[in-house]
Amino acid sequence: MKILITGALGQLGRDCTRVLQPAHTVTTLDLPELDIADASQVQQVMAQLRPDVVLNCAAYTRVDDCEEHRDDAMRVNATGPAVLAQAAEAGGARLIHISTDYVFDGQRPVPQPYTESDAPHPLSCYGQSKLAGEVAIAANCRRWAILRTAWLYGRHGGNFPKTMLRLALRQPERVLRVVNGQYGSPTWSWRLAEQLRTVIEADATGLFHATDEGYTTWYEFAARFLAAMHVPHNLQPCRNEEYPTRAVRPVNSILENAALKQAGLNSMRPWQDDLDEFVARHRAELLTECR
Ligand SMILES: NC(=O)c1ccc[n+]([C@@H]2O[C@H](COP(=O)([O-])OP(=O)(O)OC[C@H]3O[C@@H](n4cnc5c(N)ncnc54)[C@H](OP(=O)(O)O)[C@@H]3O)[C@@H](O)[C@H]2O)c1
Repeated sequence: MKILITGALGQLGRDCTRVLQPAHTVTTLDLPELDIADASQVQQVMAQLRPDVVLNCAAYTRVDDCEEHRDDAMRVNATGPAVLAQAAEAGGARLIHISTDYVFDGQRPVPQPYTESDAPHPLSCYGQSKLAGEVAIAANCRRWAILRTAWLYGRHGGNFPKTMLRLALRQPERVLRVVNGQYGSPTWSWRLAEQLRTVIEADATGLFHATDEGYTTWYEFAARFLAAMHVPHNLQPCRNEEYPTRAVRPVNSILENAALKQAGLNSMRPWQDDLDEFVARHRAELLTECR
């Protein structure tokens, strides 16, 4: 298959590139070569490449910044998917897109998960912009798959475990207070890339939740990661109110991969196993990068 990956230099985009090549003919583009919200740029690239599949890994992902930069967030997370959907429809391509747990308000009692049939109700500008992107895709093209994921981490780019590692390596004795009252599923971007490959190759369409199996809190996630890395630390759990952020996060971000399971396509693994494999594969590089 000819696959165009947009936002290819991001955390997920890089893993998707590695997972999809060489079985498929992959073209990777990111800013400034391809701005997904620029319709003429997108049309030009689509006419030139004629891809079977467009895999959109581009997004405005700085959740707190979205509160002050709502227009920018809407441009990348809502207009961008709309433009890609129109171009995919015109070019006969399938659009595969990534969305987020933050489309939900997280009010449901833990550990009751959200499934694809639950009504979204985002609390933040980021969540609103991502939901608007989902709606735009469904309105503008017929062949699409949207995978909602959560708490993504991987080898490339910035992410929560890397931030924890950097802080612990630089000041092991410093108290690191991490919220212990938000629940979700840490998801390895490599595993999600493999799940995306399964969805693409199965020609599956529709809305899917795609997070690693099981759930935890940010504090437990950080503690398990630093223990697996054998890095001394002084982590302490704190309540959500003790760590206020500009964007309100859902308390319960737990998603159930119900649609993937129903289609016999779920290849996500328990989050603990994936975290262990991530560390086993990348420990040395992570230590070098974060020291
Ligand atoms: N990270 C998470 O915890 C998380 C959780 C749930 C869902 N998701 C979703 O998962 C997907 C992948 O996230 P990620 O962590 O890989 O994000 P990321 O590392 O921030 O990568 C996004 C990429 O898109 C690029 N980009 C931004 N605006 C663009 C535009 N207008 N046109 C083309 N490219 C543009 C970014 O470039 P710059 O770096 O130059 O801006 C970056 O290379 C996103 O849809 C995100 O919403 C992420």
